[in-house]
Amino acid sequence: MSNNLKIGLFGFGCVGTGLYKVLNQSSLLSASIEKIVVKNKNKQRELSADNFSYDPNVILDDPEINLVVELIDDADAAFEIVKTAFRRGKNVVSANKKLIAEHLEELLKLSAEFNVSFLYEAAVCGSIPVIRNLEEYYNNDSLTAIEGICNGTSNYILTRISKELKSFDEILTDAQNAGFAESDPTLDIDGFDSKYKLQILLLHTFGILSQPKEVLNIGVRHVKQADVSFAKERGLRLRLLSYGRRVEDEVVAFVAPVFVDELSFSFDVNYEFNGVSFEALFSDKQVFTGKGAGSFPTASAVLSDVSALQYDYQYEYKKKNSTHLGLAKDFKVKVFVSANDQSRLALFSFLSIEEEYQSAGYAYKVGWINRSDISHELYRDNPDLFIAFYGNNPVELIGTK
Ligand SMILES: NC(=O)c1ccc[n+]([C@@H]2O[C@H](COP(=O)([O-])OP(=O)(O)OC[C@H]3O[C@@H](n4cnc5c(N)ncnc54)[C@H](OP(=O)(O)O)[C@@H]3O)[C@@H](O)[C@H]2O)c1
Repeated sequence: MSNNLKIGLFGFGCVGTGLYKVLNQSSLLSASIEKIVVKNKNKQRELSADNFSYDPNVILDDPEINLVVELIDDADAAFEIVKTAFRRGKNVVSANKKLIAEHLEELLKLSAEFNVSFLYEAAVCGSIPVIRNLEEYYNNDSLTAIEGICNGTSNYILTRISKELKSFDEILTDAQNAGFAESDPTLDIDGFDSKYKLQILLLHTFGILSQPKEVLNIGVRHVKQADVSFAKERGLRLRLLSYGRRVEDEVVAFVAPVFVDELSFSFDVNYEFNGVSFEALFSDKQVFTGKGAGSFPTASAVLSDVSALQYDYQYEYKKKNSTHLGLAKDFKVKVFVSANDQSRLALFSFLSIEEEYQSAGYAYKVGWINRSDISHELYRDNPDLFIAFYGNNPVELIGTK
């Protein structure tokens, strides 16, 4: 590609505006935003209206534009934009984890067919350089595990609920009023956002391409103060983890709240911060923490991708092309389940129980069950139930391939 990057920018919201500003302050880059396409004609913006267009083809049909930066909040529209950009021979940078998790296989095929680059560092943990590290530094098969706190909103709520005597709903409302959580928080607090990011991590860590329905996600929505007290009494903390661990030729993967102790990297990742831990055969454990969202932190990851395109950088997907690993279909997992109505706990078939408690308004059990006994639907349809995994290493493979 020419070293002179002419950018067509889709989206001028939180991240798009951030990119505009960080690009203006970056003297090392030879890149300019040529055109900006947004959706809403009547919105007040920081730049005058003549800077904006509303027709995607203004960018997609322009032969001078060699890089599309896709920063919109609509994954379906983004899919069409990105596919067309590839077909027109344009490289693409995106921050859209939902788009990527749902369509990565097709997008990879298309980008290879049209020999264009598709980079998305900002889609996982914002400013933390995860994907390029997985591609370049860990470009072999020595990685054994990856764990991440990948959703700032959930971590913010879990941190505050452990420090204040407020309910989950009260803290969520506070976070929404402060503009910190979305008005529809489903993707964040029900674990979907963390799952999309985990799917991207599974590809770049273990070479495994997955569909969203193949990876379990349980969220933090049902956590109660009594569950937090349980954790505090044992010196534990609750963290929503995106978890992938290699066990022989399989990878155990899930998104769930987990009770961790101070030996877990995630114990001290608080509030809106994100953190990722890589485990490898020879380098042992390494941890990155930083801001996983926000205008400038996310834009800095987009900027890094733009900058990489100055030297024609592409992900090589070496692990995908050589992997013999697959997702574990079932495994044993140590869980904590609690409910105000103790009869709800009968929904679980425990293989063994290590601890249990019941009183008039609250009951819990801790023990081992088969992962296949837990589903997102079980979580979603039972607001009285809190389900969390237990311990820094809560899984055991049972070999039901
Ligand atoms: N915010 C973060 O901290 C963060 C972190 C990591 C990744 N991301 C990802 O970055 C992307 C952008 O997020 P954001 O927070 O910047 O969203 P946002 O503030 O809601 O802004 C979305 C932008 O997309 C535009 N848009 C929506 N549909 C469009 C369409 N069909 N054609 C053209 N423009 C369209 C909107 O146009 P109007 O201005 O006309 O409404 C708006 O400018 C998302 O994929 C998000 O998941 C965000």
